[in-house]
Amino acid sequence: MTKVAILGFGTVGSGVYEVLKTNKSGIEKRAGQPVEVKYILDIRDFPGHPASKLFTKNFDDILNDDEISVAAEVIGGAKIAYEFTKKLLEAGKSVVTSNKELVATHGAELLEIAEKNGVSYLFEASVGGGIPIIHPIHQCLTANEISEIFGILNGTTNYILTQMIKNGKSFEAALSTAQELGYAEANPEADVEGIDACRKIAILADLAFGKELDPDKIYTEGITNIELTDVEYAEKLGSVIKLIGYCRRDGERVFARVSPMLVPKSSALSGVDDVFNAILVRGNAIGDAMFYGKGAGKLPTASAVVSDIIDAALGVSRPIKWVRTKNDIMEDIKSTKSIWFVRTDTKDKAYAKELFGNVSFTEIKEDEFAFITPLLTEKELAEKTGKLNGFKKFIRVLE
Ligand code: HSE
Repeated sequence: MTKVAILGFGTVGSGVYEVLKTNKSGIEKRAGQPVEVKYILDIRDFPGHPASKLFTKNFDDILNDDEISVAAEVIGGAKIAYEFTKKLLEAGKSVVTSNKELVATHGAELLEIAEKNGVSYLFEASVGGGIPIIHPIHQCLTANEISEIFGILNGTTNYILTQMIKNGKSFEAALSTAQELGYAEANPEADVEGIDACRKIAILADLAFGKELDPDKIYTEGITNIELTDVEYAEKLGSVIKLIGYCRRDGERVFARVSPMLVPKSSALSGVDDVFNAILVRGNAIGDAMFYGKGAGKLPTASAVVSDIIDAALGVSRPIKWVRTKNDIMEDIKSTKSIWFVRTDTKDKAYAKELFGNVSFTEIKEDEFAFITPLLTEKELAEKTGKLNGFKKFIRVLE
């Protein structure tokens, strides 16, 4: 029998309880033993809840109970969740989580503590919700040298962009709909500013490349500046705008970035709509492998948390490891190259050609035009756009 504690009874925590209950007999068969929730930790009261006897407000009940071998930390954040996780791992209990902030900021340390104590720290649910992506990278693709990972890592922003693209809604209107439907939070900052996607790409890069990136140093741009005009230009150019998390390894150095990008309709990522996520992993043996599914939501996320609970109960998980490095291993964004979509309201097309070469112009409005640049570094782009009188904005283009 494996006895489990659920830390945090919000959306994901209640989903974990529900999945363990609904799929009890199948889980018992696959885990080789019954898996039972003994505690649910939450500071709130849940009067009348059928599991009311399981609720506690005292973390020490869980920490000091030798029967608890696995805890699901679904509190979120990197403060109290960090403290609890450390204590549980040090007490010889495995911890599974959906908490991307904690994994992205303290993953190396927590994995080391888990290893020292002979237990597991598992986080399949931290990236891509219900989509299997951590195990595939860590286990199934382990024969590969992974060079690049990129994709749509945030369901909320993908929903908003889909509404802008398909229904012509403004960013503000699409955000309101997302909030009404419960996809976006009342304070949507972490999603719309790209912070959530940044944590997720940091975790994928850490896992694939073995070195911990500081998420605060990853260039992160959200979708708050995307206008319907950009969406219309993208359409005319045979593309759609998506928020893309991207990372790659260049020898010993790693580059990571989150930004909106024009994604050509020939790319499989262009058809990933609504709250769905898709992640492309590029390895030297497999080539490209794509992972697609529901990247958020109560039951998809709980599905990943519970599968980690089963692995922890079985004790079958291969230890995950990445290290903190003393040296800065991150490539400077200024020296990285992209092709760019540029919008400008100058009428001086000849000067644009002088600066950017023989570019083709796209027009959808009287007073401005747009074009796609050749491959330029961030620094070169800034220098050139600085010389355009009516420069409006640029967006990266996915090659
Ligand atoms: N807010 C996140 C998203 C939830 O929209 O993708 C899953 O991490």
